[in-house]
Amino acid sequence: MACTCSQEGCQQRTSEVVKGVHAKLRKKLKEADGDFQKIWAEHCHDEASLGEYAYAMQHLAVDHWSTKHQDDRIKWCYRTCMNYFKYGGMEKALAKDRRRQEHELCNGIEPKNVFDVEQSNKYNTICSPVSGQLRLLDVGSCFNPFLDYKEFLSVGIDLSPAVETVYRCDFLNLQIQEPLQVASDTVETYMRTLKNPVERLPKESFHIVVFSLLLSYFPSPYQRWICCQKAHELLQLNGLLLIVTPDSSHQNKHAEMVKSWKEGIEAIGFTRCKYEKDTHLHYMAFRKVKLKQPRYTLDVGPDNLYIPQDFSEDDDESVFCDSFARSKISDQDLSETFTELPGGDEEEWFLI
Ligand SMILES: C[S@@+](CC[C@H](N)C(=O)[O-])C[C@H]1O[C@@H](n2cnc3c(N)ncnc32)[C@H](O)[C@@H]1O
Repeated sequence: MACTCSQEGCQQRTSEVVKGVHAKLRKKLKEADGDFQKIWAEHCHDEASLGEYAYAMQHLAVDHWSTKHQDDRIKWCYRTCMNYFKYGGMEKALAKDRRRQEHELCNGIEPKNVFDVEQSNKYNTICSPVSGQLRLLDVGSCFNPFLDYKEFLSVGIDLSPAVETVYRCDFLNLQIQEPLQVASDTVETYMRTLKNPVERLPKESFHIVVFSLLLSYFPSPYQRWICCQKAHELLQLNGLLLIVTPDSSHQNKHAEMVKSWKEGIEAIGFTRCKYEKDTHLHYMAFRKVKLKQPRYTLDVGPDNLYIPQDFSEDDDESVFCDSFARSKISDQDLSETFTELPGGDEEEWFLI
């Protein structure tokens, strides 16, 4: 539905609703001395605020962000998945793993990544070529932006859906069931016949999990960490976790944070395979490389997943108010970023 209100005033109001909910959660977390479970339970019962947020977020993304860039983040996810699953990216990544392992073996080096070859089987592992639709779980989907792509069987879940095709679900409290261990078409049927609200999903049943503008919604790094752990459980081996997260500052300003996220998420059993930054967003793709989550060490953990707003409200979430206008510099950045940038030992898939 096109927006009929006064463009500027309406955009300001909707962005204020969205940023206001994030800020309120952060304030409550401080008042509750970091007890995120307590404030989360209260938040989930605040139907009025959740409903207002859902309407505002959809309105902002669909009607106010400039038409040219409103779905950049969705297209980035689509391109990344096509490059990886359909145009040889996965094969290249696996060949690189094999070369690395051989090199480590020949040189008596302690393996950096031990791949779960023995435990992998046809049900828990994605093998090439991938047939049928890619099962994509869009967490915090709001208005189901992946539904239009025929390559995806898109399962959208949200605390407070803005449209009927998105299932109601609190991902933080989602139960993970035993794996289905059935053929792919049966898993597809299962996903097409989910009941609302979704309270449980089977382990190792998705090719892709998307967190688009989700993680910064949470006031606590522990909540971001729980989400990444759950994504790991839900993905098949070689599946992709795609993270899009806001940051309107210059590319290098939060390079330490980007590095910290990489270390944290890799400690859960992923390898980062792609990273890009444009004016307002970080884009990250992680590949699941271990079936079981390793025990995490003392120096890497939930605190790795911090955002600037955890420490200071001065770091404004301008992505929600600017019109997604991208500068020339960042257009150039986007086209050059496959193998560079913080900690950039990314895999070299080719671009469409
Ligand atoms: C900023 S919006 C992003 C919407 C959409 N993904 C996009 O990129 O435009 C964040 C969404 O995450 C949802 N959300 C927050 N916590 C959640 C949770 N625990 N489980 C599911 N959805 C959640 C919110 O309701 C909201 O719709």
